[in-house]
Amino acid sequence: MTDSVSDTIARMRQDYRAGRLRRADLAETPMEQFSIWFAEAVRADLREPNALTLSTLGLDGLPNSRILLMKDFSEAGITFYTNYTSRKAAELEASPGASALFFWEELERQVRLRGRVEKTSREDSAAYFFTRPYESRIGAWVSTQSVVIPNRAWLDLRTEEFRAKYPDTGAPDCVPLPDFWGGYRLVPTTVEFWQGQPGRKHDRFLYTQTNGTWKIERLSP
Ligand SMILES: Cc1cc2nc3c(=O)[nH]c(=O)nc-3n(C[C@H](O)[C@H](O)[C@H](O)COP(=O)(O)O)c2cc1C
Repeated sequence: MTDSVSDTIARMRQDYRAGRLRRADLAETPMEQFSIWFAEAVRADLREPNALTLSTLGLDGLPNSRILLMKDFSEAGITFYTNYTSRKAAELEASPGASALFFWEELERQVRLRGRVEKTSREDSAAYFFTRPYESRIGAWVSTQSVVIPNRAWLDLRTEEFRAKYPDTGAPDCVPLPDFWGGYRLVPTTVEFWQGQPGRKHDRFLYTQTNGTWKIERLSP
């Protein structure tokens, strides 16, 4: 790194003062609290408030993270969709625990959810798949996600093949749901809500599931 780059990094320093998070304001369950914060992120007109970083345990024992889009949430947890033969899927098969991290920069907030991951039902996956635009449905067939491929032309050729096989009739099910594609639900056992504060004295609250109820504790920043 050059001196000027390290000077630039040294000058990158924000103080956080967008709002407070108080114990008294917290909902009883973390997913209720998540729903309040998610609604606020939507109202703040963030570009992709449903983007999250999913970390899994790599097959080599090192953590592995990537961005995904949450497509649903409920008291049970958060749902995302992907390829069941991808690297993340192999990692979840071997070690079905994960961490999901949302960062809403403009609100100076992060939410960390940790827990086990389970596949959604085939019906849920189908219901979501058929809402996707045609090209996204074709894309699910085209991509052998996470596998080494020769070049871009290989992708383009496969796209043409699948467009020919499943022409766009305008019907939602003109492209069938691949059996290697679907959803996962992360069912959290701990959830932390973090709100930035001045002087790095941030507000942090951790929900932990104990015997079916949620304990809430304040953590040191
Ligand atoms: C903004 C954004 C949204 C993404 N959404 C998804 C998604 O919902 N599902 C998915 O499988 N990959 C999504 N990706 C691609 C993943 O980050 C990743 O490259 C892919 O899932 C392969 O990961 P893996 O090799 O660890 O399985 C997204 C990437 C970005 C940057």
